[in-house]
Amino acid sequence: MNRNERIFLTGDRPTGRLHIGHYVGSLRRRIELQNEGEYKKMYVFIADAQALTDNIDNPEKVRQNVVEVALDYLSCGLDPGKVTIFIQSQIPELTELSFYFMDLVSVSRLQRNPTVKTEIQMRGFAGESIPVGFFTYPISQAADIALFKSTTVPVGEDQEPMLEQCREIVRRFNHIYGDTLVEPNIMLPDNKACMRLPGTDGKAKMSKSLGNCIYLSDTEKELKKKVNSMFTDPQHLTIDSPGHLEGNTVFTYLDAFSVDDDFANFLPEYKNLDELKEHYCRGGLGDGTCKKLLFNILNDRLKPIRERRLELEKDIPAVYEILRKGCEDARNTAAETMDQVRKAMKINYFDDAELIAEQAKRFASQK
Ligand code: TRP
Repeated sequence: MNRNERIFLTGDRPTGRLHIGHYVGSLRRRIELQNEGEYKKMYVFIADAQALTDNIDNPEKVRQNVVEVALDYLSCGLDPGKVTIFIQSQIPELTELSFYFMDLVSVSRLQRNPTVKTEIQMRGFAGESIPVGFFTYPISQAADIALFKSTTVPVGEDQEPMLEQCREIVRRFNHIYGDTLVEPNIMLPDNKACMRLPGTDGKAKMSKSLGNCIYLSDTEKELKKKVNSMFTDPQHLTIDSPGHLEGNTVFTYLDAFSVDDDFANFLPEYKNLDELKEHYCRGGLGDGTCKKLLFNILNDRLKPIRERRLELEKDIPAVYEILRKGCEDARNTAAETMDQVRKAMKINYFDDAELIAEQAKRFASQK
């Protein structure tokens, strides 16, 4: 496919502020794609309806976090002049398409979706007590993607099963009703370190509930405190003892964030990260030095984001206005696709002059 024909779409659940895991995993890439400009259209949306599927006991949390996520997007550099930013729940066509998609998926297929499977286990839904909306969210997510004829979905590897399910649904729809929708491709992050950033405690994933996140909106003071208390190498008891990189969160973050220039700027004794790693492993390099470097690098990246956010926070109505315009734009496309979908499914009764004429004739001939 011609790169300029690509239609990007991706989104986030508004369950909290975005953190640097989101940043290296997806936000940074989105901004790059936006600025490269090799696409037909780019959508980034706030998946509030999906967030409700497993936060039904706390709708206010979802509601409050819509604007937080929007602020994070804008402060990271998503440009509403280039990208359509919208809120999922404001696009009723999504619900409509989901309803038709539900006819194309079996219960057993949903049960086999690995993401749904692990989430069911994690949340401990006993037997069949799982809410239907939660169980079927892969179908709704397929609609998110297909409604905008997305060709390219930049997400983490955890979303792979969702994309596969979407492709199946689209294929099935096109097979039954004729070529209408587009089978999307996943676009995985390219740098290994960007795949999944562990929490500051070294735990598998940054997650709000574990309290191990560095937020994009953290102050400089909060950032310093979090970096200083980061998990490193429990065997590195004295500066002189050899250090280990495996599972060493400070080095994982340095892998994800540092470039050679950072060393010239913040720690000129070393040319690059390889040299620093070499010294650390040999022994004689303290965690404090590495943490100080990491703080300087993170702060260098987060400072402009933090400052832009403070500016944006001064005019919240303007942020909602950006979202309103984005929703309007998204709905225009949504309406076009749904016209095509209804036509393909032959449920566009009032526009189907042939159907009306043919039936009129048939009924007349019965007289
Ligand atoms: N499931 C995604 C997440 O949890 C959010 C999401 C919803 C999404 N719909 C989407 C991502 C469509 C990409 C495309 O992060």
